[in-house]
Amino acid sequence: MEWTREKRYLPYSKWDAETLLDLQAEAANSPYQMHYHLHPISGLINDPNGFSYFNGEYHLFYQSYPFGAVHGLKSWVHFKSNDLVHWINLGLAVKPDSKADSHGAYSGSAREIDGKLFLMYTGNHRDENWVRTPYQIGAWMDKDGKVKDKTILFKNPKHITEHFRDPQILKQGDTYYAILGAQDKAEKHGHIDVWKSKDLKNWEELGFLDMGTDPMGYMIECPNIVRVDGHVVVIFCPQGLDKKIAKYEDIYSDMYIIADDIDFENHKLINPGKLHNLDKGFDVYATQAFNAPDGKAYEISWVGLPDTTYPTDDENWANCLSQVKELAIKNGKLIQRSVKAMNDLHTDEKEVSDQVITEKAGQQYELKLTIKANQKGKLHLAANADLTGGLQINFDTENGKLILDRSKTDRQVSVDYGETRETDLTKNSDLKLDIFVDHSLIEIFVNDGEAVLTGRYFEDQANTKLAFDQPVDYSGKLWQMKTIL
Ligand code: FRU
Repeated sequence: MEWTREKRYLPYSKWDAETLLDLQAEAANSPYQMHYHLHPISGLINDPNGFSYFNGEYHLFYQSYPFGAVHGLKSWVHFKSNDLVHWINLGLAVKPDSKADSHGAYSGSAREIDGKLFLMYTGNHRDENWVRTPYQIGAWMDKDGKVKDKTILFKNPKHITEHFRDPQILKQGDTYYAILGAQDKAEKHGHIDVWKSKDLKNWEELGFLDMGTDPMGYMIECPNIVRVDGHVVVIFCPQGLDKKIAKYEDIYSDMYIIADDIDFENHKLINPGKLHNLDKGFDVYATQAFNAPDGKAYEISWVGLPDTTYPTDDENWANCLSQVKELAIKNGKLIQRSVKAMNDLHTDEKEVSDQVITEKAGQQYELKLTIKANQKGKLHLAANADLTGGLQINFDTENGKLILDRSKTDRQVSVDYGETRETDLTKNSDLKLDIFVDHSLIEIFVNDGEAVLTGRYFEDQANTKLAFDQPVDYSGKLWQMKTIL
């Protein structure tokens, strides 16, 4: 099928029920479909949106285009949870049904205000000449889940191009602040633009956030500010970032900076540190983080990248979300850990210590290992009998390197951006790995969250061998994970 512009932006009401039901069946029946991570019900999903705590529960939305594996007319689909693992699908919440969001209810955030959930997002509007206006929209969600009272708050000021989106709503004292991804007209550089309001109706631009860094490529998407262990962490996606400024290998990266604090009024970070790549693996983008009322900082990411095709495009669905991670800071770096409730998904616990862990791991498990110091080897996952195919984790605890290699998997993704990703390890130390596999998604937590390597992989689901390439001194546990989604 050819995805013409008309087709991508066809109103939802013009699609027939049978087409949608067929697409749902295709996504549900795919061997690559995730079973304990949020994934599309049909079509394509991308950014997590509106990650928040409201009415005693966690809420989360994602960007959705339900009619195919393309970036078409976007809406928000709503989920809620008590434990950040088991999510209930509450269906379509923000529809592209007003003039201001006629070409997509784009990304944004949410915050409980006076017993309602305030949503702030970008309305993507295009006129008959396809000229885009990015409207920043406020809307209210009641406890019944209905989104009402959409209001245009502001649009791009004169010095900012049409690339102005993804507001995060924040509060300090009695003032609301919003940060947005922006591109300036003069130099076409990426920025985070800071705005303020006392009443959520009248908004004033304060200026670009001074992060003490070099130019951030040509655009920044999805900026977030979250407080972690007494520091301010800024997570954002610079596009076109010079690789001399920070190391990354994906087409675009998700980066973070840790600062002592933020001065919103003067739009600057206090004592900002260096730029770091948030995830050392593949395919992580548009991470959204927030502080829950208990002060804890949580994040969730899109596992998928803009301008990238994936093998499931052939099955008319694409992408998924990561698991939720809790954030901490240690030695000036962000620590990302699984939330406790992930343990509730365990079944069939098995102690493991042999070279061949199992021939039949399936593709839905957690594997937790401690590998003794000063060893080298390869851990094969989703492998065939002779270990020539599947995923590989190459570790060298003597020289302090860990490499995730997806070059031997069945179907490749973005080979031009490399088929391996690596991270440094503390030399001559034990290596702790906590690995989550969900059919076509792998998440590797290294040394209690000092690094995370995420990635999509596409392997024959019959290849379920889990083994080291040689005898290795280690101990560990393997659990099957319950299907919850
Ligand atoms: C990031 C992004 C956002 C935008 C949304 C549209 O992936 O491009 O900047 O709001 O996706 O779906």
